[in-house]
Amino acid sequence: MATSATSSLFLLLLCAPALSFALNPHQVRAPSPLWRRGRSVPPAGFYNPHDNGGNMLTVAPNTGGLGEPLNVIVSGKSDDIVLADNEDQGGFRNYFLAVGFGSECLGQHAGDAQTANLGDGNGTKNETSELRWDYGDPSLGTCQETIKGGNHFRYWIQDGPKANSGAFFLATSYELPIQQGHDIVFDGYNLGRDWLVGNATAQTSLIPTGNVTNGTTYSGTVSFGNYTYKTDALYLSGILSNSTDGLNHASSVGGHGVEAIDGLVAVLTITVTAKPAAAAS
Ligand SMILES: *[C@@H]1O[C@H](CO)[C@@H](O)[C@H](O)[C@H]1NC(C)=O
Ligand SMILES: *[C@@H]1O[C@H](CO)[C@@H](O)[C@H](O)[C@H]1NC(C)=O
Ligand SMILES: *[C@@H]1O[C@H](CO)[C@@H](O)[C@H](O)[C@H]1NC(C)=O
Ligand SMILES: *[C@@H]1O[C@H](CO)[C@@H](O)[C@H](O)[C@H]1NC(C)=O
Ligand SMILES: *[C@@H]1O[C@H](CO)[C@@H](O)[C@H](O)[C@H]1NC(C)=O
Ligand SMILES: *[C@@H]1O[C@H](CO)[C@@H](O)[C@H](O)[C@H]1NC(C)=O
Ligand SMILES: *[C@@H]1O[C@H](CO)[C@@H](O)[C@H](O)[C@H]1NC(C)=O
Repeated sequence: MATSATSSLFLLLLCAPALSFALNPHQVRAPSPLWRRGRSVPPAGFYNPHDNGGNMLTVAPNTGGLGEPLNVIVSGKSDDIVLADNEDQGGFRNYFLAVGFGSECLGQHAGDAQTANLGDGNGTKNETSELRWDYGDPSLGTCQETIKGGNHFRYWIQDGPKANSGAFFLATSYELPIQQGHDIVFDGYNLGRDWLVGNATAQTSLIPTGNVTNGTTYSGTVSFGNYTYKTDALYLSGILSNSTDGLNHASSVGGHGVEAIDGLVAVLTITVTAKPAAAAS
C-alpha cells in the first residue's frame, strides 16, 4: 500500500507541470484493429499523397494553414506485426519503445490535433496519436520530454480505400523546452528525422544531416519486450519539397540562407527478427 501510494504521488508530482499545461487534454485514441485487410503495397512501400490530392505537410491548428513535414515513413512493406498500432503485440508502439519513444505523459495531450491528408481517399484526418522521446524511461520519460523538450512525432496511417498501403507517415521534429513555448530548434525537422533514424538503426554516431542525400541508407537492430526489429532506412528526395514554404515554426527552424527542410524523407522498412516465445507459435 505504502509503496503504491508513494509512487502515485511521485507520478503526480513529476507530471504536474505537464498536466497543468494540457489546456485541452483528451485521451489518446484507442489502437486500430490488429490486422489491416486488403492492403495493396506499391514497390516504394507507400503511395505519394500528392498523386491523389494529399500533401506531405500537415496542417497545425490556428496557424493559417501552416504545418510540419511528413519526413519519416514506415513502409507498407514492413512486417504486418509492426503495421498494427498496438504496444502489447509487437506493434508500431512497441517498435517505438525499442527506438526510445513512448506515449505522451499519462496519456494526456497538450494542444489541438494536427491534421493531414495522405491522399488515400479518407480526406483530411486528425493525427492518430503522438509519441515523444522517453529519455530512457519507457513509463515516465515522456513527462520529461513534455517539460524539457526533445524529439517527438505525430503520425497518420495511409489506409483509405484509394491508397491502402498501410504505411505510417510521421511528422518528426525536435522541440525546445516548455518555457520557450515548444518552438522547434534550428534545423529541428531534419535533426528530429535523423536522430529518430539514428536510434532506430542503432547508430553509434550521429547521422551527418548535412551529408545525407537521395539514396543514403542505414540499417540496424533494436529490441523491446523480447521483440527484435531490423530497420532498413532509405532517404528519398522528390516527395517532400526542399523549401520553407508552408512550414510552421519556419522562423526558428530555418533562415540565414538555410531552408527549413532539406526535402528528404526517411523510409523505414522494419522486419521482426525475433519475438517472445509465447507469440512465436
Ligand atoms: C479532431 O481533434 C479535435 C481536437 O484537436 C477534436 O475537437 C475533433 O473532434 C477531432 N475530430 C475527429 C473527427 O476526431
Ligand atoms: C480510412 O478508411 C478506411 C476504410 O476505407 C477505414 O478502415 C480507416 O479506418 C480510415 N482511416 C482513418 C484514419 O480514418
Ligand atoms: C537518439 O535520440 C536522442 C534524443 O533525440 C539524441 O540525443 C541522440 O543523438 C540520438 N542518437 C543518434 C545516434 O542519433
Ligand atoms: C560530410 O561530407 C564532407 C565532404 O564529403 C566530409 O568532408 C565530411 O567529413 C562529412 N561529414 C560527416 C560528419 O560525415
Ligand atoms: C523475455 O524473455 C525472458 C527470457 O526468455 C523472460 O524471462 C521474460 O519474461 C520475457 N519478457 C517478455 C516481456 O516477454
Ligand atoms: C532517388 O533515388 C532513387 C533510388 O534510390 C531513384 O529511384 C529516384 O529517382 C531518385 N530521386 C531523385 C529525385 O533523384
Ligand atoms: C535544397 O536546396 C538547397 C538550396 O537550394 C540546396 O543547397 C540543397 O542541396 C538542396 N537539398 C536537397 C536535398 O535537394
